[in-house]
Amino acid sequence: MQNKNITGLTGVLGLIGNPVRHTMSPLIHNTLSEELGQDLCYLPFPVEQDVTAAVKGAFHLGIRGLNVTVPHKTAVMEALAEVDENARIIGAVNTLVRTENGYKGYNTDMPGLLRAISIRGISLKGQQVIVLGAGGASRAVCTLALSEGAASVWLLNRTAAKAEQMAEELNRHFEGNRLKALAASDFRKVPGVPSVMFQCTSLGLKEGDGLLIEDENFYHKATYGYDLIYNPAVTPFIRKMNENATPCDNGLSMLLYQGIIAYELWTGLSVSEELAERVYTKLKRSIYGENLILVGYMGCGKSTVGRELAESQGMHFLDTDSMIEEREDCSIRELFEERGEAAFRDLETGLLKHLSDSAVNTVIATGGGIVLRKENRELLRKTGTVIWLKASVEETLGRVKSDTSRPLLDSASEQELAGKVERMLQERGAAYESAADEIVSTDGKTVEEISREISRIY
Ligand code: ATR
Repeated sequence: MQNKNITGLTGVLGLIGNPVRHTMSPLIHNTLSEELGQDLCYLPFPVEQDVTAAVKGAFHLGIRGLNVTVPHKTAVMEALAEVDENARIIGAVNTLVRTENGYKGYNTDMPGLLRAISIRGISLKGQQVIVLGAGGASRAVCTLALSEGAASVWLLNRTAAKAEQMAEELNRHFEGNRLKALAASDFRKVPGVPSVMFQCTSLGLKEGDGLLIEDENFYHKATYGYDLIYNPAVTPFIRKMNENATPCDNGLSMLLYQGIIAYELWTGLSVSEELAERVYTKLKRSIYGENLILVGYMGCGKSTVGRELAESQGMHFLDTDSMIEEREDCSIRELFEERGEAAFRDLETGLLKHLSDSAVNTVIATGGGIVLRKENRELLRKTGTVIWLKASVEETLGRVKSDTSRPLLDSASEQELAGKVERMLQERGAAYESAADEIVSTDGKTVEEISREISRIY
């Protein structure tokens, strides 16, 4: 819960629907208010039956704005003073903006999707668009594609009749015959030209779901794929796009931008791309899971403990050193020898920037010197909870003595090595400490013990 000071001046925003307990909207809107310094509070309101009475009550309670979700998106229209033209075509309202005489209804799902794909450089104008599924979400996507000037929109559905009816209605509205309905089994009739593909069926929500069209070749037409599902993050459709190296996104960006556009309508403010990114990362972490980052001197067990921890917690595992070796196709020792330490540190910083935007639900083991740069320490903390695996000089020596893969430890004698380790531990201690949220001592503990200790903290 945010530590918000609610006063007599605080404005109320909210969501009506049923159920509302899993909604991510409070996170989006309360973060926006916090970041933009707006004295507003967003709350969920479960409305079981009479949505008209709820909207009337909300107006008289002075509620500034509302989102509307299932099952009220269509029925709510009856209760409004005005309905925006686009919302009327789609037949669904998800945002209510307060006016003098009542609320005006908008649909921000469609502009939300448009903003999400535009940011990825995708335009629908003049394109062949393929839409899979013919339910409520598909109707909004087809409307978007037609109003954005798509050359043709192929609508494929398991039940052809539903697709045909939708095509008839929308073609009448947009005048022309650009929307073409097909039974999914007739997918071969779709021309083999580069297409933007939208996945709007519910396939992927359940474990074991397949694709609407199983034929491999069908998906080669896609130059970009968008799955409206965001949980799970990877659906069979997204997996297929990834297999084909086709750029793609899931519905989380649409969820974000429909919220941002609603917020802009309520407040008259405009949300910068930078702020949108920050809310997106917060949303992603809250839905898909936080990251745990292990830092510490070489030999403290970052990789071994990290792997064990990831496995026991059902998280992914990444090792920054291995990732750099893989990306550069060369060992850390060779990188140091051929390009020098500074170049290696640059690679680390670049990788951390990438991980701070993309990693979710992951244990990340890092290189021993990653904390030396202030920029890296900031990136690490932005990426997740940072844990310093601390080990004494004796323990570290015992672990690194026979390891020849560590260029910074090249030494003639054992005594020299001991001195070097002691010096480096002392020099780096402050950097580890300032990077870390938590410190875990590893001396005399097994990998399982350390992993268990971290999962308790975490
Ligand atoms: P939404 O409002 O999210 O779009 P919807 O209106 O219930 O959801 O639509 C669900 C879509 O997923 C429909 O296109 C549905 O196909 P049918 O019209 O043939 O029912 C599609 N869908 C759901 N389960 C499916 C399955 N097992 N195989 C193929 N399509 C499926």
